[in-house]
Amino acid sequence: MDTPLTVVILAAGLGTRMKSKKAKVLHQAGGRALIGHVAGTALELTSPDRIFVVVGSQAEQVQAAVSAEGLGFIHQAEQKGTGHALMVCRERLAGLPGLLAVLYGDCPLLSTATLRELVERQRNSTAAATVITTVLEDPAGYGRVLRDESGRVRAIVEQKAAAPDELAVREINSGIYCFRADLLWKHIDEIRPDNPAREYYLTDIVEIFGRAGYGVEPFLLAEPAEVLGINTRAELAEVDRICRQRKVRELMLAGVTIEKPETVTIDAGARIGADTVVEPFAQILGRTAIGEDCRIGACSIVRDSELADRVEVRPFSIIEGSQVGAEARVGPYARLRPGSRLGAGAHVGNFVELKQTRLGAGSKANHLAYLGDAEIGDGVNVGAGTITCNYDGVEKHPTKIGNEVFVGSNATLVAPLELGDGCYVGAGSVVTDPVPPQALALGRARQVNKEGWARKRRPAARKNPPTEPRP
Ligand code: UD1
Ligand code: MG
Repeated sequence: MDTPLTVVILAAGLGTRMKSKKAKVLHQAGGRALIGHVAGTALELTSPDRIFVVVGSQAEQVQAAVSAEGLGFIHQAEQKGTGHALMVCRERLAGLPGLLAVLYGDCPLLSTATLRELVERQRNSTAAATVITTVLEDPAGYGRVLRDESGRVRAIVEQKAAAPDELAVREINSGIYCFRADLLWKHIDEIRPDNPAREYYLTDIVEIFGRAGYGVEPFLLAEPAEVLGINTRAELAEVDRICRQRKVRELMLAGVTIEKPETVTIDAGARIGADTVVEPFAQILGRTAIGEDCRIGACSIVRDSELADRVEVRPFSIIEGSQVGAEARVGPYARLRPGSRLGAGAHVGNFVELKQTRLGAGSKANHLAYLGDAEIGDGVNVGAGTITCNYDGVEKHPTKIGNEVFVGSNATLVAPLELGDGCYVGAGSVVTDPVPPQALALGRARQVNKEGWARKRRPAARKNPPTEPRP
């Protein structure tokens, strides 16, 4: 049987080098909190009840950002270093046998495959631990890996504590380890804060194991991208870029056309069906799900929304928290605010805003309208410039429009209001009372024509009245 695996994710630090009020692991890369990425990777390897997150700074928010169910949280009230973060876990975890992997919450690009290989290597090794290392062009800020004659890891020295010849070493500690749990708990208390920062460095465990007669194996990664740690905003931006690139590539390999892929922003949680085309500078954010054969127009933003198959979003549209039925068309320059639902084949055209509104199947609002808190049936035509007056200065009120209704241009629909099936509203009407099915509502002043009025009023016309009408 496989040796059981426990995963501990260190995420208690504030991250002072980020110069932020927000704890570092809450910052986002690829549209997901850093801690979310790491927890997601851990969940691929072991069951939630075997994953523990060490929290401290902004603990509540960090817990909320790990959306998965069933993970354990351990509080590190004072952040006295990565070694101390594990010391506070001992009471809760020492009874769990097998292997213990430690991940750092600020290292989100690690792949499941690499983590799995780390665990496999440790499983098949006699060493006390295996640590992922890599060689960086510029190792500044990272702990340096010092090897012994046999190639095992003799020590890891932190940047702040390293001698000049040690600083020249370009092999770095990724902060990702797999330990024999029994040996870790046996020796963890030997870590002392005897360094310039007065912190308990987890990395000191390597020398402690050495003194106790145990080895530590390196697992050298040729490709450093996976273990880039984030300590500054500049590093955050670089990791975000890599996350986006990965996501776009994954989608393209799954059959999505992405034009100018370097310009689009697609969050990790977004799903897009095959043969959908994403135009340049589009942003597809949050938990958006887009069907097959859709087109997402240039510079459009789609957030936390569901689009069925064959939906066309024309350029410069914004869709948030909404559902769009198959073959519907949105934009250009349309805005669907949260709670909007478009039926199959519905059209929402330029400068039309919907809020908390259902527009039924085949219904159209093609130009310049505001539809808020409205239930609109199927086959309805909403004329240009129609406004639902849903707010009376104190409260919001609903508008209900039946099927096959024709609302003339520039209608002002004062809510609460109900328009019955098949009725007509004359252009320019202010409608304050319910309209029965099949009726015509006219709510505007009757037109009056005053014969000859213009000729009399124009001074020039009075002096020199034209003798003959112009052709
Ligand atoms: C750490 C390693 C360094 C390695 C680098 C890789 C140590 C001493 N150093 O340095 O060798 O090259 O990561 O990215 O381990 N944390 C806690 N509690 C604490 C302190 C930190 O939970 O008391 C968490 C942080 O929230 C963070 C992680 O541990 O997610 C790493 O801490 P950080 O301060 O970023 O360590 P580095 O200086 O990057
Ligand atoms: Mg770090």
